[in-house]
Amino acid sequence: MSVQAKTQKMSVPTFRDRKGSEKLVMLTAYTAPMARLLTPYVDALLVGDSVGMVLHGLPSTLGVTPEMMILHSAAVRRGAPDALVIADLPFGSYQASPQQAYETSARLLAETGIDAVKLEGGTEMADTIRFLTQRGIPVMGHIGLMPQRINQMGSYRAQGRSAEAAEQIKQDAIAVTNAGAFAIVVEGVLETIAADITRTVSVPTIGIGASPVCDGQILVSDDLLGLFSDFRPKFVRRYADLSNEISTAVEAYAKDVRSGAFPSDKECFK
Ligand code: KIV
Repeated sequence: MSVQAKTQKMSVPTFRDRKGSEKLVMLTAYTAPMARLLTPYVDALLVGDSVGMVLHGLPSTLGVTPEMMILHSAAVRRGAPDALVIADLPFGSYQASPQQAYETSARLLAETGIDAVKLEGGTEMADTIRFLTQRGIPVMGHIGLMPQRINQMGSYRAQGRSAEAAEQIKQDAIAVTNAGAFAIVVEGVLETIAADITRTVSVPTIGIGASPVCDGQILVSDDLLGLFSDFRPKFVRRYADLSNEISTAVEAYAKDVRSGAFPSDKECFK
């Protein structure tokens, strides 16, 4: 669905059933106008907690709150009523217990109309994923590099560098799948690990910095559009340089205002 405009809403089961066939295309969206622009070209939108860094200037995703996710998820839903929309459970809103995860997820789904939630974690989050999926909340997993664990990891470098760590990530993928996740984001791992996981699990793997072998890919839209330059992961391919376009346009506007080269009322109201 990457080159042709879509006609039908993608459901969670249809997304899951794309495993092993046409690659799945995902992008992040945080606002209504961006969701509207992206929807024709993607299979699903993610309201990522990256919104904290990209739109709110936070140093990491840790400061993102359920209220922020609700506000942005509702905006994305309004901009893309027919898209499959998944939203991140933010740090501290689901790790304490399955019950806490259920309450946050139910709020997100009920108050915004999104379709599913995503949460970070492997074997240790399997019980929570099972609790949610058995109660009607579709869950996308997220393993490998988990940005909400930045304080533990120390940096955003690729994970699974030892054989033991690679095996743990594979076990995470299996546990998350067995718990009922309909897809798994695999972030920041070597191609060998991504390939092994993609072969092993029965649900689509969505890679980010995890090589092209996954069943689909996701990127932060602002990265690929050249709108966010605070932090640029090596795997991000820029398809546009909108920061530069904005600077050029605003510079031209400021020049016109200062020189008085602006449309007169006669031009505006004829
Ligand atoms: O928060 C986010 O945007 C994400 C994706 C980049 C996978 O989790």
